[in-house]
Amino acid sequence: MQITLENLQRSYGNLHAVNGVSLSIPSNTIYGIIGKSGAGKSTLVRLISLLESPDGGEVYFDNNRVDNLTKQAMIDRRRRVGMIFQNFNLFTSRNAEQNIAYPMEITGMSKPAIKARVDELLDLVALQGRGKAPISTLSGGQKQRVAIARALACNPDILFCDEATSALDPQTTHAILSLLKEIQKKMSLTVVMITHQMEVVRDACVQVAVLNDGKVVEQGLVTDIFANPSSEVTKDFLAHLVGLDESASRQDKMVQWSKKRGTYTLRFRGDTTDQPILSRITQSIGVEFNIRAGGVQKVGDVEIGTMVVDISGDEETKIRALEALRIAGVLVEEEGKL
Ligand SMILES: Nc1ncnc2c1ncn2[C@@H]1O[C@H](COP(=O)(O)OP(=O)(O)OP(=O)(O)O)[C@@H](O)[C@H]1O
Ligand SMILES: [Mg+2]
Repeated sequence: MQITLENLQRSYGNLHAVNGVSLSIPSNTIYGIIGKSGAGKSTLVRLISLLESPDGGEVYFDNNRVDNLTKQAMIDRRRRVGMIFQNFNLFTSRNAEQNIAYPMEITGMSKPAIKARVDELLDLVALQGRGKAPISTLSGGQKQRVAIARALACNPDILFCDEATSALDPQTTHAILSLLKEIQKKMSLTVVMITHQMEVVRDACVQVAVLNDGKVVEQGLVTDIFANPSSEVTKDFLAHLVGLDESASRQDKMVQWSKKRGTYTLRFRGDTTDQPILSRITQSIGVEFNIRAGGVQKVGDVEIGTMVVDISGDEETKIRALEALRIAGVLVEEEGKL
């Protein structure tokens, strides 16, 4: 199911929570929407999932307009949209299988059919035999698996994940993202992943839109945006991710040699990671690179290297070195501009 948004607007009083968002989310993929707290992510999700009506603009699923459906058509359409959340939103008074059964009970499915589907779903999320478990006895990761099974019960064609891994530790996050990727393929779902974690975008999404103050500031392939971020917000997210910041989790930290931060951030992508670009420039231009930090991370199938360096030499030599880096396909950012 392809989702198209045309100039979506939603205000609360004077606050433009979603302020003119136009996006095309392709069918059968995992699409990320990243933004800081208050950027308007959850508001946008409520508009796309038809839980709330926009003040202006249009929502299309494939080529059908869906934001102005009649009440019953809206309810039917919403039934094929699955959602999972950070806090799982499970019924604690019901056990795992009763939670998964709930949306099917509402649609009036027969008891044996529900039972068969629940078993299938428990299998799918690797919780075989745990159906009778009270929710309070499950770990965070297991709770999210139950929530995923429940979201998929009525065979949705779209799945929204609103900060679905934000309450989980890095290992569990990894496992849940792997499960979502597997399910996306199996069911040919369009998955929209809302997050404030660049790790989630890197590890799970094919395309991403960056939301800030209710507006899309950047969008495109995740590999392109990691290699060549254009907005300040995106650069800021990436700086956190590559570990220039204390809060980055350890597995994403760059190897860091020096306490001093370094003036230039160099980003190498794909081919350029395999070439001795720095040593060539050192020899041909006579400049010296002082490496402050560096690391390589995998974004989808592409490797992206990041290196933070100082460059010594006179102004003219430095300019020539920077030019040579750019010609070699390295993206250069100067401190202060990050
Ligand atoms: N029902 C509402 N009434 C009034 N203001 C709201 C309502 N829902 C959202 N807002 C405001 O709209 C803005 C965007 O909120 P939203 O929840 O969409 O942000 P978010 O990107 O999901 O943030 P977070 O990462 O913290 O979940 C915020 O300033 C919020 O206070
Ligand atoms: Mg939110």
